[in-house]
Amino acid sequence: MKAVIVPSFGDSHVLRVVDQAEPRPETNQVLIKVEAAGVGYVDVMARNGAYQPLSEPGFSPGLEAAGTVTAVGEGVPRDWVGQQVFALTGSGAYAESVVVDACDIVRLPEGVSAADAVALGVNALVASIALKRANLMDGERVLVRGAGGGIGVMAVQLAALYGGVVTAITSSPARGIRLQNLGAAHVQDRTTDQDSGTFDIIVDPVAGQDTGRWVEKLRPNGRYLLLGAAGGAPTVDTFNSILATYHNSPSLHAFSLNSIGPGTVGAAATALFHLVAQGGLRAVIDDEVPLAEAHRAHERLESTPVFGKIVLRP
Ligand SMILES: NC(=O)c1ccc[n+]([C@@H]2O[C@H](COP(=O)([O-])OP(=O)(O)OC[C@H]3O[C@@H](n4cnc5c(N)ncnc54)[C@H](OP(=O)(O)O)[C@@H]3O)[C@@H](O)[C@H]2O)c1
Repeated sequence: MKAVIVPSFGDSHVLRVVDQAEPRPETNQVLIKVEAAGVGYVDVMARNGAYQPLSEPGFSPGLEAAGTVTAVGEGVPRDWVGQQVFALTGSGAYAESVVVDACDIVRLPEGVSAADAVALGVNALVASIALKRANLMDGERVLVRGAGGGIGVMAVQLAALYGGVVTAITSSPARGIRLQNLGAAHVQDRTTDQDSGTFDIIVDPVAGQDTGRWVEKLRPNGRYLLLGAAGGAPTVDTFNSILATYHNSPSLHAFSLNSIGPGTVGAAATALFHLVAQGGLRAVIDDEVPLAEAHRAHERLESTPVFGKIVLRP
């Protein structure tokens, strides 16, 4: 089978397509013929050697795959063969086939394609579980940074669905209109607008040096959800901002999907896929790229902001 590997850390040109033996499912595992793999900024960080936990060079990237079960190991019912499924793979989804533990797969309902599944994938799981942990209540004001990105488009939609009044921060008027169509009540253009307002919840997959400035926008008892660092790591000033607004009892929640067990992930993914099947949540796909051009997907993520998710097609 064909797979993409990272032979050494570096820019998008290090990505190589290689021939590998198809993996075989062992006990309690399944083999998935990959029809779609998600591409996210986290893959760029892994390729650069900037993602913790660090993989050794030689790994195949890709946290999430969807496709058809083509073989099962001992302990897995034979009738799973032929099922359309999604799985968090940890790594290795940039390939024609991938083996995963059976406890990690989620069946796709009618009406949800493999591309839809990975377009939601990690991003929708992060947004939904983090928002649930923040106990978002009806009518609360929610700010979403990086709103047009992979996590952002899911956070905007889900925060609105859960009853929040959403302000989306993005980088162009055209992206702002698309975000309003996904449920944002207000839009701020980070390239031109003076930001204003205070919020009960701030969803932040961007971070960066000015994270503290955003922390100071929390209302009393506000919750700050630090979900990623597409704009770079926050500085220690962030903690000064927490102290400066101590009287408001701000909470800082750092959230990684890596800390969540398969049962919780599976239940959340099933609920999200059913929302898509019922028309309540949209899979937002920026582009579909052939497996052999994975480097192009990474270049795109690193040059101009994507809107939603890039999907890799073996
Ligand atoms: N918590 C977890 O478990 C988890 C899981 C997966 C990924 N992540 C992390 O989450 C982060 C975002 O991932 P993603 O896939 O959503 O990335 P993405 O699709 O590239 O989206 C990031 C968005 O942030 C905005 N942005 C980018 N650079 C910025 C800057 N310097 N200043 C302000 N805004 C900027 C852009 O949106 P606009 O132009 O619309 O503003 C961009 O589209 C990454 O660090 C990734 O590693 C975390």
